Amino acid sequence: MAEELTFPPGCAYIQGKFVPMSEAKISVLDWGLLRSDATYDVVSVWEGRFFRLDAHLDRFEASIEKLRLTLPFEGGRLSAILAECVRRSELDTAYVEMILTRGVSPTFSRDPRDAVNTFIAFAIPLGFVANEDQMARGLDIHISSISRIQPGSVDPTVKNYHWLDLVAGLHEAYDAGRENVLLVDGAGHVTEGPGFNIFALKDGRVTTPASGVLEGITRRTALELLAELQVKGEAAPLPITDLKAADEIFITSTAGGIMPVGRLDGETVGDGPGPLTARLRELYWAKHTDPAWSVALSELPGMSGDGLG
Ligand SMILES: Cc1ncc(COP(=O)(O)O)c(C=O)c1O
Repeated sequence: MAEELTFPPGCAYIQGKFVPMSEAKISVLDWGLLRSDATYDVVSVWEGRFFRLDAHLDRFEASIEKLRLTLPFEGGRLSAILAECVRRSELDTAYVEMILTRGVSPTFSRDPRDAVNTFIAFAIPLGFVANEDQMARGLDIHISSISRIQPGSVDPTVKNYHWLDLVAGLHEAYDAGRENVLLVDGAGHVTEGPGFNIFALKDGRVTTPASGVLEGITRRTALELLAELQVKGEAAPLPITDLKAADEIFITSTAGGIMPVGRLDGETVGDGPGPLTARLRELYWAKHTDPAWSVALSELPGMSGDGLG
Protein backbone atom coordinates (compact mmCIF):
# COMPACT_ATOMS: atom_id res chain seq x y z
CA MET A 1 0.00 0.00 0.00
CA ALA A 2 1.24 3.46 -0.90
CA GLU A 3 2.02 5.64 2.10
CA GLU A 4 -0.62 8.28 2.81
CA LEU A 5 0.73 11.73 1.91
CA THR A 6 0.23 14.63 4.27
CA PHE A 7 -0.10 18.26 3.20
CA PRO A 8 0.25 21.64 4.88
CA PRO A 9 -2.98 23.38 5.88
CA GLY A 10 -4.31 25.82 3.31
CA CYS A 11 -6.63 26.28 0.40
CA ALA A 12 -6.10 25.85 -3.35
CA TYR A 13 -8.02 27.01 -6.39
CA ILE A 14 -7.86 24.52 -9.25
CA GLN A 15 -10.18 23.75 -12.17
CA GLY A 16 -12.39 26.61 -11.02
CA LYS A 17 -12.92 25.28 -7.49
CA PHE A 18 -11.58 25.98 -4.01
CA VAL A 19 -10.31 22.78 -2.39
CA PRO A 20 -8.08 21.70 0.54
CA MET A 21 -4.40 21.21 -0.37
CA SER A 22 -4.79 17.41 -0.37
CA GLU A 23 -7.23 17.70 -3.29
CA ALA A 24 -5.21 20.12 -5.46
CA LYS A 25 -4.04 17.83 -8.28
CA ILE A 26 -3.03 18.24 -11.92
CA SER A 27 -3.02 15.83 -14.85
CA VAL A 28 0.15 13.81 -15.51
CA LEU A 29 -0.21 15.04 -19.11
CA ASP A 30 0.14 18.70 -18.12
CA TRP A 31 3.05 20.39 -19.94
CA GLY A 32 3.82 22.11 -16.66
CA LEU A 33 4.84 18.73 -15.26
CA LEU A 34 6.26 17.10 -18.40
CA ARG A 35 8.21 20.12 -19.72
CA SER A 36 8.40 22.60 -16.81
CA ASP A 37 6.34 24.74 -19.19
CA ALA A 38 4.77 27.12 -16.72
CA THR A 39 5.20 30.40 -14.94
CA TYR A 40 4.30 31.34 -11.39
CA ASP A 41 4.57 34.02 -8.77
CA VAL A 42 4.54 34.09 -4.98
CA VAL A 43 3.23 36.91 -2.82
CA SER A 44 3.16 36.97 0.95
CA VAL A 45 0.36 37.85 3.34
CA TRP A 46 1.57 39.20 6.66
CA GLU A 47 -0.94 39.66 9.49
CA GLY A 48 -3.86 39.86 7.09
CA ARG A 49 -2.21 42.13 4.50
CA PHE A 50 -0.80 41.29 1.04
CA PHE A 51 2.67 42.83 0.58
CA ARG A 52 3.26 44.55 -2.80
CA LEU A 53 0.46 42.60 -4.46
CA ASP A 54 0.39 44.86 -7.54
CA ALA A 55 4.11 44.31 -8.22
CA HIS A 56 3.65 40.52 -8.06
CA LEU A 57 0.57 40.61 -10.31
CA ASP A 58 2.38 42.81 -12.84
CA ARG A 59 5.39 40.44 -12.93
CA PHE A 60 3.08 37.39 -13.27
CA GLU A 61 1.17 38.99 -16.14
CA ALA A 62 4.40 40.00 -17.90
CA SER A 63 5.73 36.42 -17.54
CA ILE A 64 2.48 35.02 -18.97
CA GLU A 65 2.82 37.25 -22.01
CA LYS A 66 6.48 36.37 -22.58
CA LEU A 67 5.66 32.63 -22.53
CA ARG A 68 2.64 33.14 -24.82
CA LEU A 69 0.26 31.77 -22.24
CA THR A 70 -3.27 33.05 -21.60
CA LEU A 71 -5.14 33.33 -18.32
CA PRO A 72 -8.51 31.58 -18.57
CA PHE A 73 -10.28 34.64 -17.05
CA GLU A 74 -10.04 38.42 -16.98
CA GLY A 75 -6.85 39.60 -15.19
CA GLY A 76 -8.95 41.58 -12.71
CA ARG A 77 -10.25 38.32 -11.21
CA LEU A 78 -6.76 37.21 -10.14
CA SER A 79 -6.60 39.19 -6.90
CA ALA A 80 -10.13 38.05 -5.93
CA ILE A 81 -9.10 34.38 -6.35
CA LEU A 82 -5.90 34.87 -4.32
CA ALA A 83 -7.75 36.72 -1.57
CA GLU A 84 -10.39 33.99 -1.44
CA CYS A 85 -7.70 31.27 -1.11
CA VAL A 86 -6.29 33.15 1.89
CA ARG A 87 -9.73 33.73 3.45
CA ARG A 88 -10.69 30.07 3.10
CA SER A 89 -7.30 28.93 4.43
CA GLU A 90 -8.01 30.97 7.58
CA LEU A 91 -4.31 31.89 7.64
CA ASP A 92 -3.27 35.33 8.87
CA THR A 93 0.25 34.97 7.47
CA ALA A 94 0.56 33.07 4.21
CA TYR A 95 2.64 32.05 1.20
CA VAL A 96 0.34 32.64 -1.76
CA GLU A 97 1.32 31.09 -5.07
CA MET A 98 -0.30 31.61 -8.49
CA ILE A 99 0.64 29.28 -11.36
CA LEU A 100 -0.22 29.15 -15.05
CA THR A 101 0.88 25.98 -16.85
CA ARG A 102 0.76 25.25 -20.57
CA GLY A 103 -1.81 22.60 -19.61
CA VAL A 104 -2.94 19.49 -21.44
CA SER A 105 -3.16 19.05 -25.19
CA PRO A 106 -6.35 16.99 -25.84
CA THR A 107 -4.59 14.87 -28.52
CA PHE A 108 -1.14 14.80 -26.81
CA SER A 109 0.07 16.80 -29.80
CA ARG A 110 3.62 18.21 -29.65
CA ASP A 111 2.39 21.69 -30.56
CA PRO A 112 2.25 23.95 -27.44
CA ARG A 113 -0.49 25.99 -29.11
CA ASP A 114 -2.87 23.02 -28.79
CA ALA A 115 -2.63 22.87 -25.01
CA VAL A 116 -5.34 24.37 -22.80
CA ASN A 117 -3.58 26.58 -20.24
CA THR A 118 -4.30 25.72 -16.59
CA PHE A 119 -4.48 28.20 -13.71
CA ILE A 120 -3.83 27.13 -10.13
CA ALA A 121 -3.44 29.15 -6.92
CA PHE A 122 -2.93 28.24 -3.29
CA ALA A 123 -2.34 29.72 0.16
CA ILE A 124 -0.28 27.80 2.74
CA PRO A 125 1.65 28.92 5.86
CA LEU A 126 4.56 31.28 5.07
CA GLY A 127 7.99 29.72 5.56
CA PHE A 128 11.32 31.59 5.55
CA VAL A 129 14.48 30.65 3.58
CA ALA A 130 16.37 31.14 6.89
CA ASN A 131 15.16 29.75 10.22
CA GLU A 132 15.22 31.77 13.47
CA ASP A 133 18.74 30.67 14.40
CA GLN A 134 20.06 31.45 10.90
CA MET A 135 18.33 34.86 11.01
CA ALA A 136 20.27 35.66 14.19
CA ARG A 137 23.74 34.46 13.17
CA GLY A 138 23.41 34.72 9.37
CA LEU A 139 23.22 31.88 6.86
CA ASP A 140 26.24 29.77 5.99
CA ILE A 141 26.34 29.91 2.18
CA HIS A 142 28.28 27.78 -0.29
CA ILE A 143 29.41 29.29 -3.59
CA SER A 144 28.71 26.56 -6.13
CA SER A 145 30.75 25.60 -9.16
CA ILE A 146 27.41 25.19 -10.96
CA SER A 147 26.29 27.96 -13.34
CA ARG A 148 22.71 29.20 -13.25
CA ILE A 149 20.90 28.32 -16.48
CA GLN A 150 22.01 30.80 -19.14
CA PRO A 151 19.78 33.82 -19.69
CA GLY A 152 20.15 33.13 -23.42
CA SER A 153 18.41 29.78 -22.88
CA VAL A 154 15.68 30.59 -20.35
CA ASP A 155 14.71 34.21 -19.65
CA PRO A 156 15.34 34.52 -15.89
CA THR A 157 13.00 37.52 -15.62
CA VAL A 158 10.15 35.06 -16.27
CA LYS A 159 9.65 33.34 -12.92
CA ASN A 160 10.07 29.69 -13.84
CA TYR A 161 10.51 26.14 -12.57
CA HIS A 162 13.91 25.50 -14.21
CA TRP A 163 15.43 24.59 -10.86
CA LEU A 164 17.59 21.52 -11.59
CA ASP A 165 20.75 23.65 -11.35
CA LEU A 166 19.57 25.23 -8.08
CA VAL A 167 18.64 21.87 -6.57
CA ALA A 168 21.96 20.28 -7.64
CA GLY A 169 23.63 23.30 -6.01
CA LEU A 170 21.73 22.70 -2.76
CA HIS A 171 22.97 19.08 -2.66
CA GLU A 172 26.51 20.34 -3.29
CA ALA A 173 26.12 22.80 -0.38
CA TYR A 174 24.77 20.14 1.99
CA ASP A 175 27.64 17.78 1.01
CA ALA A 176 30.05 20.61 1.91
CA GLY A 177 28.33 21.05 5.30
CA ARG A 178 26.80 24.44 4.36
CA GLU A 179 23.19 25.64 4.67
CA ASN A 180 22.39 27.16 1.29
CA VAL A 181 23.90 27.87 -2.10
CA LEU A 182 24.68 30.60 -4.59
CA LEU A 183 25.14 29.78 -8.27
CA VAL A 184 27.64 31.47 -10.58
CA ASP A 185 27.54 32.56 -14.24
CA GLY A 186 30.64 30.77 -15.58
CA ALA A 187 32.43 34.12 -16.04
CA GLY A 188 33.49 34.78 -12.45
CA HIS A 189 30.28 36.38 -11.15
CA VAL A 190 27.59 35.24 -8.74
CA THR A 191 23.95 35.08 -9.82
CA GLU A 192 21.25 33.90 -7.39
CA GLY A 193 20.24 31.04 -5.09
CA PRO A 194 17.20 28.78 -4.75
CA GLY A 195 14.45 31.35 -4.30
CA PHE A 196 16.57 34.38 -3.43
CA ASN A 197 18.69 37.27 -4.76
CA ILE A 198 22.00 38.30 -3.23
CA PHE A 199 23.37 41.70 -2.10
CA ALA A 200 26.88 42.71 -1.00
CA LEU A 201 27.95 45.86 0.89
CA LYS A 202 31.50 47.09 0.35
CA ASP A 203 32.85 50.51 1.30
CA GLY A 204 29.38 51.98 1.75
CA ARG A 205 28.06 50.77 -1.61
CA VAL A 206 25.60 47.90 -2.11
CA THR A 207 25.58 45.73 -5.25
CA THR A 208 23.19 43.04 -6.48
CA PRO A 209 23.73 41.12 -9.74
CA ALA A 210 22.19 42.98 -12.67
CA SER A 211 21.55 40.11 -15.08
CA GLY A 212 21.05 36.37 -15.23
CA VAL A 213 18.67 36.53 -12.26
CA LEU A 214 15.01 36.82 -11.45
CA GLU A 215 14.24 40.46 -10.78
CA GLY A 216 12.89 39.70 -7.31
CA ILE A 217 10.21 41.94 -5.84
CA THR A 218 12.12 41.81 -2.54
CA ARG A 219 15.29 42.75 -4.48
CA ARG A 220 13.41 45.81 -5.82
CA THR A 221 12.17 46.55 -2.30
CA ALA A 222 15.72 46.35 -0.88
CA LEU A 223 16.99 48.76 -3.56
CA GLU A 224 14.13 51.18 -2.76
CA LEU A 225 14.80 50.94 0.98
CA LEU A 226 18.51 51.60 0.38
CA ALA A 227 17.52 54.76 -1.51
CA GLU A 228 15.27 55.74 1.42
CA LEU A 229 18.28 55.30 3.75
CA GLN A 230 20.44 57.28 1.29
CA VAL A 231 22.82 54.35 0.87
CA LYS A 232 24.16 53.76 -2.64
CA GLY A 233 22.60 50.61 -4.08
CA GLU A 234 22.84 49.37 -7.65
CA ALA A 235 22.33 46.39 -9.92
CA ALA A 236 25.70 45.59 -11.53
CA PRO A 237 27.88 42.54 -12.22
CA LEU A 238 29.02 41.07 -8.88
CA PRO A 239 32.37 39.22 -9.12
CA ILE A 240 32.84 36.27 -6.73
CA THR A 241 36.03 37.98 -5.47
CA ASP A 242 34.06 41.14 -4.55
CA LEU A 243 31.45 39.08 -2.72
CA LYS A 244 34.20 37.39 -0.73
CA ALA A 245 35.59 40.79 0.28
CA ALA A 246 32.19 42.22 1.32
CA ASP A 247 31.58 43.95 4.65
CA GLU A 248 27.98 42.65 4.79
CA ILE A 249 25.98 40.21 2.68
CA PHE A 250 22.24 39.63 2.70
CA ILE A 251 19.75 37.69 0.60
CA THR A 252 16.22 38.73 -0.39
CA SER A 253 13.10 36.64 -0.97
CA THR A 254 9.34 36.82 -0.51
CA ALA A 255 9.97 33.79 1.73
CA GLY A 256 11.59 35.70 4.59
CA GLY A 257 12.34 39.19 3.29
CA ILE A 258 15.86 40.46 3.94
CA MET A 259 18.04 37.80 5.56
CA PRO A 260 21.69 38.04 6.72
CA VAL A 261 24.56 35.87 5.44
CA GLY A 262 27.02 35.13 8.25
CA ARG A 263 29.47 32.86 6.47
CA LEU A 264 30.60 32.34 2.91
CA ASP A 265 32.39 29.10 2.05
CA GLY A 266 33.18 28.71 5.74
CA GLU A 267 34.66 32.22 6.21
CA THR A 268 32.94 34.79 8.42
CA VAL A 269 31.53 37.73 6.40
CA GLY A 270 32.83 41.00 7.86
CA ASP A 271 31.99 40.96 11.57
CA GLY A 272 28.92 38.74 11.03
CA PRO A 273 25.37 40.10 10.40
CA GLY A 274 25.89 43.86 10.16
CA PRO A 275 24.05 47.09 11.03
CA LEU A 276 22.89 47.91 7.48
CA THR A 277 21.23 44.49 7.08
CA ALA A 278 19.56 44.95 10.49
CA ARG A 279 18.29 48.45 9.55
CA LEU A 280 16.93 47.20 6.20
CA ARG A 281 15.18 44.28 7.90
CA GLU A 282 13.51 46.65 10.35
CA LEU A 283 12.32 48.97 7.55
CA TYR A 284 11.18 46.02 5.41
CA TRP A 285 8.85 44.73 8.13
CA ALA A 286 7.63 48.24 9.00
CA LYS A 287 6.40 48.60 5.39
CA HIS A 288 4.09 45.61 5.86
CA THR A 289 1.53 47.75 7.69
CA ASP A 290 2.01 50.78 5.42
CA PRO A 291 -0.97 51.15 3.01
CA ALA A 292 1.42 52.45 0.33
CA TRP A 293 3.11 49.02 0.31
CA SER A 294 0.41 46.61 1.42
CA VAL A 295 -3.30 45.95 1.13
CA ALA A 296 -5.65 44.35 3.68
CA LEU A 297 -7.44 41.18 2.70
CA SER A 298 -10.70 42.89 3.66
CA GLU A 299 -10.12 45.55 0.98
CA LEU A 300 -10.01 42.97 -1.82
CA PRO A 301 -13.11 41.63 -3.61
CA GLY A 302 -14.54 38.31 -2.46
CA MET A 303 -15.93 35.31 -4.32
CA SER A 304 -18.95 33.32 -3.33
CA GLY A 305 -19.90 29.67 -3.75
CA ASP A 306 -17.40 27.20 -5.21
CA GLY A 307 -15.65 29.86 -7.30
CA LEU A 308 -17.23 28.87 -10.61
CA GLY A 309 -19.46 31.93 -10.75
C1 LIG B 1 15.29 32.02 -8.75
C2 LIG B 1 14.75 33.06 -7.83
N1 LIG B 1 15.46 34.18 -7.61
C3 LIG B 1 15.00 35.14 -6.78
C4 LIG B 1 13.81 35.00 -6.10
C5 LIG B 1 13.32 36.11 -5.16
O1 LIG B 1 12.21 36.77 -5.73
P1 LIG B 1 11.12 37.53 -4.84
O2 LIG B 1 11.85 38.55 -4.05
O3 LIG B 1 10.18 38.11 -5.83
O4 LIG B 1 10.50 36.50 -3.96
C6 LIG B 1 13.03 33.86 -6.31
C7 LIG B 1 11.75 33.69 -5.63
O5 LIG B 1 11.22 32.61 -5.55
C8 LIG B 1 13.50 32.87 -7.21
O6 LIG B 1 12.78 31.77 -7.45
